[in-house]
Amino acid sequence: MKDDAISAFVQRVSEAQGKPALSEAKVRRLSDASAHVVVAEGDSIQAVAVAAKHRQSDGTFLWELETVVEPSLQFAEFELEVLRAGLWLVPRGTSTTVWSQRSSLDTALAALGFEERRALAHMAADLPLTDTPPIGDFRTMGKDERGVLVELNNAAFAGHPEAGTMTIEDIDVWEREGWFRDAGVIFVEHGGVPVGFCVTKVHPNGDGEIYRVGVVTDARGRGYGTTLAVAAYDLLASDNRTARGTLWVDSKNEGAIALYRSIGLETTMVNREFSKSGS
Ligand SMILES: CC(C)(COP(=O)(O)OP(=O)(O)OC[C@H]1O[C@@H](n2cnc3c(N)ncnc32)[C@H](O)[C@@H]1OP(=O)(O)O)[C@@H](O)C(=O)NCCC(=O)NCCS
Repeated sequence: MKDDAISAFVQRVSEAQGKPALSEAKVRRLSDASAHVVVAEGDSIQAVAVAAKHRQSDGTFLWELETVVEPSLQFAEFELEVLRAGLWLVPRGTSTTVWSQRSSLDTALAALGFEERRALAHMAADLPLTDTPPIGDFRTMGKDERGVLVELNNAAFAGHPEAGTMTIEDIDVWEREGWFRDAGVIFVEHGGVPVGFCVTKVHPNGDGEIYRVGVVTDARGRGYGTTLAVAAYDLLASDNRTARGTLWVDSKNEGAIALYRSIGLETTMVNREFSKSGS
């Protein structure tokens, strides 16, 4: 099956669903024939499964699988068929994660012994934001302050399985991916010392995302988180002329969700992560 036919299928399902059917990382994997399988009837694509391997903070590897299914075929039996085809991409005995936004896929995953691990809410608001509270001082990060960003991130996300072990190399990777800019990072200070940061990201579709925001524990509850979020969306709206502000947040992170709601964001979809350990 030709790459452009597969991309067109993913695009069509995304438009039908009104939201991206595949994450950006998996869209990039569509050009690698060993990373995806297509379920088709004749020339007509019915589903695509895409896999990718990720290194975790403890050095072990985790496989991630995503599936895109023709909307009229989104029922559990067919989802199961697509899932089984996709799991051939994953080496036997390795831990696997599947992201789901469909109840039919949830049912198929449960049938294969996958368990829900967490849910991420996607929140969005039109930019520029309106009715935001007054915010404090902030500044953008200098290029020579990437080490400060790493320290702030690891302090704010200490113990977080993915976000808490950032390195300078991660910033290099983000830069190579083409979206990271030092001027797209905002700092807030307390007593002249940086205590909070916000990394912004502009997506190819024009959405402006708060990619990472954090305030060190001792400085929380003073309005710095709100300052960072409002300032980040202001920057995205003015610098990059972004019309929609977005972010992903763990559904259990009630404090952060309350903050985002208070500045006008609303949940647009929830992505559930299911996993099954290798055996
Ligand atoms: C989320 C975070 C950035 C908020 O920073 P902050 O400086 O404490 O935020 P603010 O002081 O501006 O809080 C503003 C509002 O957010 C909400 N809020 C923030 N933290 C909260 C908490 N732990 N519990 C309940 N509400 C909370 C409240 O609505 C608060 O309003 P209030 O001041 O009227 O009570 C900070 O808690 C943090 O770094 N957490 C760890 C990293 C993280 O989870 N980042 C977000 C990932 S998407």
